Amino acid sequence: MSEDILNKFKQVQDEKKSAESDKVLKIGIIGTGWIAEPHVTAYLKCKDAKIVACADLVDGKAEAFCKKMGLENVRLYRNHKELLDNEELDAVSICTYNCTHAECAIYALEKGVNVLLEKPMCVTLDEAIAIMKAEKASNKILSIGFQPRLDENMKMIKKIVQSGELGEVYYIQTGGGRRRGIPTPFGTSFIAKDTGGIGALGDIGCYSLDMVLNAVGYPKPLTVSGYKSDFFGKRPNYYPNHPEYAAAFGVDDFAAAFVRLEGGIVLDFRISWAMNMDTAGDTLILGTKAGLRIPSTECWNGSVGGAMKLYHEVCGKQVETVIPIIETKGNLFDMKIRTFLDAVIEGGESPIPSSQILYNQAIIDGINKSAELGREIEIEIPQI
Ligand SMILES: NC(=O)c1ccc[n+]([C@@H]2O[C@H](COP(=O)([O-])OP(=O)(O)OC[C@H]3O[C@@H](n4cnc5c(N)ncnc54)[C@H](O)[C@@H]3O)[C@@H](O)[C@H]2O)c1
Repeated sequence: MSEDILNKFKQVQDEKKSAESDKVLKIGIIGTGWIAEPHVTAYLKCKDAKIVACADLVDGKAEAFCKKMGLENVRLYRNHKELLDNEELDAVSICTYNCTHAECAIYALEKGVNVLLEKPMCVTLDEAIAIMKAEKASNKILSIGFQPRLDENMKMIKKIVQSGELGEVYYIQTGGGRRRGIPTPFGTSFIAKDTGGIGALGDIGCYSLDMVLNAVGYPKPLTVSGYKSDFFGKRPNYYPNHPEYAAAFGVDDFAAAFVRLEGGIVLDFRISWAMNMDTAGDTLILGTKAGLRIPSTECWNGSVGGAMKLYHEVCGKQVETVIPIIETKGNLFDMKIRTFLDAVIEGGESPIPSSQILYNQAIIDGINKSAELGREIEIEIPQI
């Protein structure tokens, strides 16, 4: 029986050929911090893309980055505006900290440049709406950098839900997080209010939300009761080598929420950069016919922590079916860049469209607002 059920989900990895073109696309990199490295590594593998310009606010950072990455004859700029004003580009990767995602994306789209925007989409719902208005007016591709979506196990979660095997989904528990894992290896850009803007909630919470919302078809969020705290980030002894980071900490290190989604689904969410617990729990998707357990990971970066299990009934007996881990061929970052370039060449739908991630951002924004008010709120999403 287990075999039969597994066959239903049998995975044929996407055979879609890349749309590699003869034309060489001119690419700009905005923000040359940590995440810019896998972007550049991936572009360098694409014969139809050439990085012609890089920008960073920090003096000398873009230059040092180009040297490290072996990029030659690249024009350097001090910010996104200078870069976009002086270059004729086909596309940019926006690899800046969260608080400048919106201004960079809007400026690029207004200049008629295709945009690959790192996750989270931005900080607030208002920013997301402004980005999407610019996207609509530009008619360009905007893709949001959720590479875990390209993982075969993530695709499997969606296949299982969409196959109907779970019946009607009515409850989802998601999130997870780290016992100690406030990200400060490169300074305070993730933890300061004016650069990160949102903490664990935006950094890794957006992955948990995308994992389940994508699987169930991104239903509209209706109401949210949110909580957030900062008990660890504000302690000087959390950072033995940099006690001064505590004063810079201006975001959440833990967040939780109860969200009602269109279609009668409730979403029970929690996420942590730091807590006195090993895991905030596995992801559970409960349906009227079966339930799916997706093991959490220690690091929580949007990946699956082990074999998933389906809890269902066969001839009146309660049984479990293990869904073995599926190996993903290739590197997720390379695939993220390639699928983006393919969309730029072919036009059509963005690989990870803003229309979906808007709901992810609306939940994050709702959790923030509700936590600050100390009560449940309705999520209102303006028309674009
Ligand atoms: N997809 C992933 O797996 C993944 C992993 C890590 C980080 N990220 C995301 O990538 C983003 C950047 O993360 P990071 O670790 O590289 O941060 P970082 O702080 O190392 O680098 C960000 C850089 O952007 C520059 N910058 C900010 N605004 C700018 C502007 N207007 N013009 C030019 N440069 C500007 C900063 O000076 C900084 O050097 C964050 O939003 C983060 O959530 C995604």
